[in-house]
Amino acid sequence: MRLNIAIDGPVGAGKSSIADAVAQRLGILHLDTGAMYRALGLKALMTGTDLQDENAVTELCEKLDLDVGYGESGQRTMLDGKDVSGQIRTPEVSMAASTVSRYAEVRKMMVRRQQELAAKQDMLVDGRDICTTVLPNAPVKIYLTASSEERAKRRWKENREKGSAESYEEVLQAVIERDRQDMNRAVEPLRQAEDAILLDTTEMRFDEVVDAILRMAEEAKNGQ
Ligand code: DC
Repeated sequence: MRLNIAIDGPVGAGKSSIADAVAQRLGILHLDTGAMYRALGLKALMTGTDLQDENAVTELCEKLDLDVGYGESGQRTMLDGKDVSGQIRTPEVSMAASTVSRYAEVRKMMVRRQQELAAKQDMLVDGRDICTTVLPNAPVKIYLTASSEERAKRRWKENREKGSAESYEEVLQAVIERDRQDMNRAVEPLRQAEDAILLDTTEMRFDEVVDAILRMAEEAKNGQ
């Protein structure tokens, strides 16, 4: 069986950086599925597509020239042959990604691509529906979360280091709004899969979370 590790969780739970660290320690690739929805959100913004128009966004997704590659610093997200890994991290693209990810046909297309990638190699995959839909049979399934205040604090610090002038209050409001949209959409809303292990990291240090996941991966390997 493939050593696939599936991690779901809300915005700012630390999924990406934790997943990067765990994947690196295990010597496997990390697929950040949020980047794929972000690339679609960016394309919609660039082409002036109405984000609320489900048909138009679905059509855009059908034709999307999206590729995921791996470089020295991890995943590179390519749109129309161009590396957009940095461009997809703005607050505007975050919200656009959340909006386009509500559409059923968009989700089907993205899930199919993610399953194809994970079937080819051992992979750690993070997102919102990985344990529930993309890889329901993954040997390790985790729901990573923390309080909304703690998540906003981490995101705010991270953004500030990158030169963002957003206040903590603005970041907290954006976290709450994106949670609301991701958890309440009709199609595959974010939720903890029944058999996923809950990791609440509010009071945990980064290395403690990484170690906890590595232990789970080790147990899964030995249990095979
Ligand atoms: O993980 P992220 O913040 O980069 O994700 C951006 C948006 O994409 C998020 O608000 C919801 C959506 N998403 C999703 O619906 N399913 C996934 N597997 C990953 C992300």
